[in-house]
Amino acid sequence: MDIRKETIFQDTAKLTIGDLSVELPVITGSEGEKAIDISSLRNQTGFITMDPGLGNTGICTSRITFMDGEKGILRYRGIPVEELAEHSTFVETAYLLINGMLPTRKQLNSFSVQLNDQSLVHEDMKGFYQNFPPRSHPMGILSSMVNTLESFYPILKKSETREEEINITLTRIISKVRTMAAMSYKISRGHKVVYPRPDLCYCGNFFNMMFDSPVRPYQVDENAIKALNVFWILHADHEQNCSTSAVRLVASGRVNIYAAISAGIAALWGPLHGGANQAVIEMLEAIQADGGNIRPFVERAKDKNDPFRLMGFGHRVYKTYDPRAKIIKKTADMLFEKMQVSDPLLDIALELEEVALKDNYFIDHNLYPNVDFYSGIVLRTLGIPTNMFTVMFALGRMPGWIAQWKEDADNPKWRLYRPRQIYTGNKTNHYVPIGERA
Ligand code: CMC
Repeated sequence: MDIRKETIFQDTAKLTIGDLSVELPVITGSEGEKAIDISSLRNQTGFITMDPGLGNTGICTSRITFMDGEKGILRYRGIPVEELAEHSTFVETAYLLINGMLPTRKQLNSFSVQLNDQSLVHEDMKGFYQNFPPRSHPMGILSSMVNTLESFYPILKKSETREEEINITLTRIISKVRTMAAMSYKISRGHKVVYPRPDLCYCGNFFNMMFDSPVRPYQVDENAIKALNVFWILHADHEQNCSTSAVRLVASGRVNIYAAISAGIAALWGPLHGGANQAVIEMLEAIQADGGNIRPFVERAKDKNDPFRLMGFGHRVYKTYDPRAKIIKKTADMLFEKMQVSDPLLDIALELEEVALKDNYFIDHNLYPNVDFYSGIVLRTLGIPTNMFTVMFALGRMPGWIAQWKEDADNPKWRLYRPRQIYTGNKTNHYVPIGERA
């Protein structure tokens, strides 16, 4: 059958399938991006569309984040991420993402007070942490514990809940996940939990809860705080991606928000997504252990018969340098200079980048460093253990997941996400009793 996608008119696209011709609306975004709205396609033609990996499928319109993968642009609510990384804090950026505008001083103060008020975690939750087997991955623990929040801090259904209570729940999540991540780390080491302090900023509080101890009290380090703010701002949202769309999809069944965020954490865990920051460091360590020769690793990454990939390289949307990677690389430089430290893994990373960017395979495939390539080096310098890197990504992505959840939940036309498929299995079969089977 001849299927042709014809001219895109100003606001409709004509699709011809054999003798049948339908006009479909064209949606144009504020940056000129275009989509053909196929929501009536099956009713009109009996056809569905097929897009494994969803590379050409929009699942929503959104006012939160704009990215242009060809030009390497990323903006939250219209503001370039470069400006936010330079001038903003994670808390202010979180407010921006969730509420759609930068806060006034009064709004920011009140948001900070709420974050402080919500920062304690129910004491009974400590028992759960103590009972995870010692080798449990912190992402599995975080995902489970965020789901558990519903039992400790139940929320009413959106339709029955006042706006204020919704806002408290959203703030609670952002505040408590930070406490929970640090608590998990302390308990995993057999150390006493450190409680949040209202006099410290969001990032300072995190460091204090992670690293303060009776033998070495935490000393505020403004460079580390700046670096963590930048790291979390860069991870705060990234429009539709595996974990964010998981949050939207799971939430569309009208499950409570904790369960939806817990699904996002689980989705982020994988090495092709947020787990890449841990995988990058493990790859750089493997290169170091192998004598520091990067060539065999580059060759393996190019070999079609080898599943190995250069971790921290490539992106579904960015076909140029990930703008976040540029910023985090500068942050690594700033940290090394101010803290007067060095990391041999940085030298390996720089050499790997240089070789890959000159190699035809990487050039032809548009493979450039993504945010995860240098972020692990920053986290290592900040003292974060490698198995917590993806947890750090998850803490940063919290405002984005929440903003995306809110955008759907506030939409009066919010529908259950329910994709279709084309069945290619057996035609009707009949049950055969076990004794009669061949
Ligand atoms: N090393 C070597 N080859 C690669 C790589 C890589 N890192 N990434 C993609 N390719 C090749 C791949 O083999 C394929 O080659 P061919 O067309 O010749 O068969 C081609 O590029 C397209 O790959 P794909 O898997 O179809 O592309 P995708 O858009 O589905 O993948 C990706 C995007 C991020 C999963 C992939 O680039 C990758 O696996 N990168 C390494 C993991 C990584 O760093 N992930 C973090 C992403 S950024 C953080 C986040 O936002 O989640």
